[in-house]
Amino acid sequence: MTYETILVDIEDGIAILTLNRPAVLNALNDQVFIELADVASTFAADPSVRVVIITGGEKVFAAGADIGQMASASAVDVATSDKPSHQAFQLIENMPKPVIAAIAGYALGGGCELSLVADIRIAADNAQFGLPEIKLGILPGAGGTQRLPRLIGSGRAKELIFSGDFINAEEALRIGLVNKVVPADQLFIEAKKMAKKYVDRGAVALLMAKSAVNEGLRMDLEAGLQYEHKCFSLLFATEDQKEGMMAFLEKRPANFQGR
Ligand code: CAA
Repeated sequence: MTYETILVDIEDGIAILTLNRPAVLNALNDQVFIELADVASTFAADPSVRVVIITGGEKVFAAGADIGQMASASAVDVATSDKPSHQAFQLIENMPKPVIAAIAGYALGGGCELSLVADIRIAADNAQFGLPEIKLGILPGAGGTQRLPRLIGSGRAKELIFSGDFINAEEALRIGLVNKVVPADQLFIEAKKMAKKYVDRGAVALLMAKSAVNEGLRMDLEAGLQYEHKCFSLLFATEDQKEGMMAFLEKRPANFQGR
């Protein structure tokens, strides 16, 4: 797989997707979104990919949507565009396998919003998060006003959205924006360690668990509980459920086959 704006590396079931526009701090233009959508569809369908890590590398995650590309757009241009960011982010969010964002440096605007479509966010201690769109006279338009309040609550989300201020990794951890903060030189080691754990789990149980959480968040509690029960019941049709429970009873590690 060769792309212009992202790098892809797959090893031992872990796909690493690295944004690669260093001259503009990985700013996200339409080309990035189109390539992200393509790679997300490919990973979703590839059984050799068990977990995906999204990163911008060691220096910066992404400094937001490409302001150069947006500056001269009209309301009609924006309203009638194919919304490539929306498509790419939906495909990543709904990927039927775990997605980990490994974040170093700036994760701003659309970059911060990209991290929100991952299942888990690990931050380097040098990471900085923010939704500075308000300072450009716009609002976070790639899911920030919707996904961030669902993750950290509306009060904290509004503070970030209204001020455009940046917060550091420790503050992001305190408010629940990231799962974990690690020393910068440990970021990829930690992300891979976490990914390896998920590679060892049953792929079908993982995808159903992810679906139960994601779909459940779009439903009221009663509907969500019913959906969870359907997912739970279906897993009893898998070989992995038999293997997992048998392995427990036989006091040995389970050997899941993802079926
Ligand atoms: N779009 C386009 N280019 C960008 C960019 C962006 N979002 N962010 C940085 N760049 C470019 C700069 O223009 C600069 O290019 P040149 O060398 O050609 O001048 C290069 O990247 C390096 O940036 P700086 O010189 O500004 O680096 P710095 O270390 O002084 O500052 C920064 C870093 C604080 C991140 C600053 O670059 C900045 O504020 N960037 C913009 C952040 C932002 O407003 N993001 C939101 C974008 S809007 C959005 O994302 C909408 C949405 O919801 C989808």
